[in-house]
Amino acid sequence: MTNFLVLGGTGRSGSLVAKNLRDRGLAVRTAARHDADVVFDWDDPATQRAALTGVYLVAPVPWVRYAAQVSAFLDLAEAAGVRHVTYLSTYRAEQAPATMDFRAVETELASRTAFTHTILQPGWVMQNFADQHVPIIDGVITVPGGTGAEAFVDAADIAAVAVETLVHPEQHARARYTLTGPEALTFAEVAAIITEVTGRPVRYQDIDRAAWIGAVVATGFVPADYGVILDWQTSTVESGNGSRPGDDIYKVTGRHPTSLAAFARRAFRAAPVSAAPVREAPQIRDLGDFVALEPFFRIVEQGLAGLVDGGHYFDLLADDVVFEYVISVPGYPRRVAGREAVAELYRGYGANLVLHSADELAAHHDREKSVVVLEYAVHGRVVATGSAYTNRFVSVVTIQNRKVTHWRDYLDPVAVFDALGWPA
Ligand SMILES: NC(=O)c1ccc[n+]([C@@H]2O[C@H](COP(=O)([O-])OP(=O)(O)OC[C@H]3O[C@@H](n4cnc5c(N)ncnc54)[C@H](OP(=O)(O)O)[C@@H]3O)[C@@H](O)[C@H]2O)c1
Repeated sequence: MTNFLVLGGTGRSGSLVAKNLRDRGLAVRTAARHDADVVFDWDDPATQRAALTGVYLVAPVPWVRYAAQVSAFLDLAEAAGVRHVTYLSTYRAEQAPATMDFRAVETELASRTAFTHTILQPGWVMQNFADQHVPIIDGVITVPGGTGAEAFVDAADIAAVAVETLVHPEQHARARYTLTGPEALTFAEVAAIITEVTGRPVRYQDIDRAAWIGAVVATGFVPADYGVILDWQTSTVESGNGSRPGDDIYKVTGRHPTSLAAFARRAFRAAPVSAAPVREAPQIRDLGDFVALEPFFRIVEQGLAGLVDGGHYFDLLADDVVFEYVISVPGYPRRVAGREAVAELYRGYGANLVLHSADELAAHHDREKSVVVLEYAVHGRVVATGSAYTNRFVSVVTIQNRKVTHWRDYLDPVAVFDALGWPA
């Protein structure tokens, strides 16, 4: 019986490939390290033996060099009698620097005759805007793209093409499909479309490429060597050489590719854009500068939910709020007055530390005194060294007229010294 293996089957395109195959009544197994039908680890060949008809191949994400592991897997696939492999590559992989393995795997597949293959070369996927890849934080898309345009593609369209190639391999043998959306859009145009669809303001903010890559790497979301891919992808778009609309999706599926507006209607209805609400207080400028503190903002917003008005952390603060850093580190101010001054103090945070999560929230509310004591932990990385950083806080928050008027902060200085160095 026809039996498909979807590597990366829990990912953005793979999960849709698997669902689509299942919807057709076909036997399919998803494969990944976590939460898949079968455990599959590119680092562990013992997990890779499977006799199958067709394989959808997503290389290990986010590795840069993976050709050797894919080659070894293809040997196993040959031995197991696999008939066809559809490989998820990337737009213009043939022009990618040789330090990345997109092209090497394409060449390897072309050299094999025991099974047929198809190569998919998608542009940037639209899903990037709806997940952690290029997240919309407080109504801002921050990415080094300048005024360059890209024909963003819906992962569902990639999956639809992949499924056709797996189900009718003979028709798509040795084909290479360029998969792009119906219009090339700048990031500012993407922001305008999402604003229109969601009714909430979203804007685009350009950023220095090296700073952006440094921040992404520092979150631990990708390893340091993945910076070369981020650099290549963003500089390609910024230089005006981003992907352009093509007709391969239509040719293979008979369906026109999904527009960004249609994608946004689907994606943001389920998970609304976190946009800065309209408010009277002056906006803190360049909220994108505070990405490194997002987990802190979110956990405080959670701890104070229902007690204060405002969307973003800074909106919860009264204009004349006073912050006292009761237990802190040498060189840090003991007292800061005013919402703008607090924001300016925090603006530089990402130069040293980037947070990726926050947890252990406990909120103790004294209604009579209108004070909330928040306990929480934050986790991140040290920008300079990449080493892990965790700290625990107690913040004593006074609320008046549904705004924070006073904040007393206690942190663990030892954790800061361990991360950033001990004072001489
Ligand atoms: N983002 C874009 O705009 C874009 C554009 C063009 C091409 N691409 C390419 O598309 C690919 C990503 O595809 P996607 O978005 O469908 O995937 P994805 O959502 O990033 O998911 C990755 C999948 O691979 C699995 N995986 C990651 N590392 C693994 C490992 N070491 N061993 C086994 N499985 C592993 C993950 O599950 P586990 O973590 O549980 O193992 C998950 O199922 C990348 O090669 C990327 O270069 C992306």
